[in-house]
Amino acid sequence: MPLVRRSSRFPLAVCVHASRFVGAAALAGCLALGAGASSTSDPNPDAPPLHRATDRVAIGAALSPQDLDDPALAAHVAKHFAVLTPGNEMKPDALQREQGVFTFERADRLVAFAQAHGQDVIGHTLVWHSQAPKWLFEDENGDPLPRDIALDNMREHIHAVAGHFRGKVKGWDVVNEAISDGGPYLRDTPALRAIGEDYVIKAFQFAHEADPDAELYFNDYNIEREYKREKALRLVEELRDAGCRIDAVGIQGHWLLGAPGLEEIEAGVKLFIDAGFEVHITEMDVDPLPRRGRGGADVTAVEREGLDPYQDGLPPEVQQQLATRYAELFELFLRHPQITRVTFWGTDDGRSWLNYFPVRGRTNHPLLFDRELQPKPAFFEVVETLQDAR
Ligand code: XIL
Repeated sequence: MPLVRRSSRFPLAVCVHASRFVGAAALAGCLALGAGASSTSDPNPDAPPLHRATDRVAIGAALSPQDLDDPALAAHVAKHFAVLTPGNEMKPDALQREQGVFTFERADRLVAFAQAHGQDVIGHTLVWHSQAPKWLFEDENGDPLPRDIALDNMREHIHAVAGHFRGKVKGWDVVNEAISDGGPYLRDTPALRAIGEDYVIKAFQFAHEADPDAELYFNDYNIEREYKREKALRLVEELRDAGCRIDAVGIQGHWLLGAPGLEEIEAGVKLFIDAGFEVHITEMDVDPLPRRGRGGADVTAVEREGLDPYQDGLPPEVQQQLATRYAELFELFLRHPQITRVTFWGTDDGRSWLNYFPVRGRTNHPLLFDRELQPKPAFFEVVETLQDAR
């Protein structure tokens, strides 16, 4: 079995990769830096440029534009990723916290960096129940606005935002996380309460009006899982039946080391593919930390006991488990040509949201690069998997 073979000869594989690619990586890294980048040298010369390991999937990362102040991080981002997603800066509360007052500066900065380095930008996100100002869909008492006013607010937000980034954003996560975890269909959100179930269709129509050339995606978590995927399929099929442009289903891909199982993920992916949709993995990470207790960002110190076991780094066996899990997931992706993008939710372990979620202030290790921007065993496994599938 190739996976076992690869894992068992892993230390050797690292050396081979490191020596095989160091020259090309240094060269490609310099080329990738291009105009506007500092002359900072490549922070991880032993790592070949990740996105160049494949022409099957676009490889992306989420980041905050202020992180680009660090020249090493800027060089890292320019070298390894072909697609950038702003982690927070295009969310409704970042762009129009106060009604009618648009604050595009931070998002514009990320777009300018991407343009200078020949990278695509994914807009994230036009409509979401989280990180959105209340005035969009609720009155001052927290009651739903009348449908026509809520629709006007949503239309104006989407037209202004997608209009501002027209021609600069490859595609939009138009609606994020609309599927209910426990309920029969859609999540109970301010937009649903004010507008009704067709708010999703309306959002896609408004986005298309504002930027007819932009790709449009529906994005959500766990929609590959058995409990949620039929509801998500229903939504994207309703969008298509309504005549909306929909270019891909975005599966967030916030996975754990031990779950969900590969079979469940693949069955979910296939459900969308068989229905004729492209699939993007939009926010990938693999969390190796324990999840137990009631979770949430506010667990007390007592509850935290035992939940932060790798403050000094991942033990080698867990590092290897992470590498194997990443390899298996990429092998799965590569079995399906309809998966055309994989975006990591963060550039390196130090900048992952999983240091704060679901428990605040832990030391997490969910990505391919460590806190020093050095490639982890998982990085080399992913590169090898991508190259094998060329
Ligand atoms: C996260 C950001 O990474 C954090 O910085 C922020 O505090 C909360 O949101 N699903 C999504 C993303 O669609 O927008 C979330 O991003 C992670 C979960």
